[in-house]
Amino acid sequence: MADEQSQPAKTHERKKITTKTLVTMKRNGVKISALTAYDFLMARYLDEAGIDVILVGDSLGNVIQGNATTLTVTLDEMIYHAKIVKKAVRTALLVVDLPFMSYHVDLKEAVRNCGRVMKETGADAVKLEGGERIAEVVKHLVKVGIPVMGHLGLTPQSINIFGTYVTRGTDPKEARQIQKDAKLLEEAGAFAVVLEKIPASLATKVTSSIRIPTIGIGAGIHCDGQILVTHDMLGMTEMFHPRFVRKYLNIAEQSKNAFKNYIKDVKNQKFPNKSESY
Ligand code: KIV
Repeated sequence: MADEQSQPAKTHERKKITTKTLVTMKRNGVKISALTAYDFLMARYLDEAGIDVILVGDSLGNVIQGNATTLTVTLDEMIYHAKIVKKAVRTALLVVDLPFMSYHVDLKEAVRNCGRVMKETGADAVKLEGGERIAEVVKHLVKVGIPVMGHLGLTPQSINIFGTYVTRGTDPKEARQIQKDAKLLEEAGAFAVVLEKIPASLATKVTSSIRIPTIGIGAGIHCDGQILVTHDMLGMTEMFHPRFVRKYLNIAEQSKNAFKNYIKDVKNQKFPNKSESY
């Protein structure tokens, strides 16, 4: 396949989605669609289908690298995947996750690492997990021109603190903290916030208390938008069945059937046939 960047730009009817577009969508009551991508073709299909936001999530640690958590994903790995995705994206807002420990040590290192992501990948924004504890970092990033999406609730980079993947914000104290965190992220200049696996009633409260959009994953219908891991909604991750994932395809089963048919055809000398030969 020719390098996409060497191809002439195609004209598209849809306007490029920006961070401002998302805020306007919230104001106008237009729901935001978001999904993840880690490679060129998936990003191209998502963009052509009209998705609003493509996230190069550190969930690639799970679905691409086969790890149990996202914690071992490195900044260089995120940059590698984001560069590939960027080649395919024309309209969607491209957001890249900053991996565990790449924005936690100090402000300088956070700015340097987020700056690397923006400069080396051409992404539109970064996503960081946490509220109050990263509000200063968010403020700094926005000040230097890096748009930030926040992420609250069941933040996977904190799994070793949580010790479990159960719903967050079910007790009043944690629910209050999530509401406070969302406000602090908004005040720090974040343009949106992901709410992961929290009660729908809490997500509704958070959504109505801030002007920036909330993007839910397992957070009910009243968020301003929804995000899923693409591999989950395509039914590629057979072993993962949380209630919040709706499977729009069953690619795992379809792929295995296709592979079995191919193997059978090769063994029985049914492939290739004459028209598939030169
Ligand atoms: O890493 C990821 O894919 C995410 C989404 C699940 C929100 O953070």
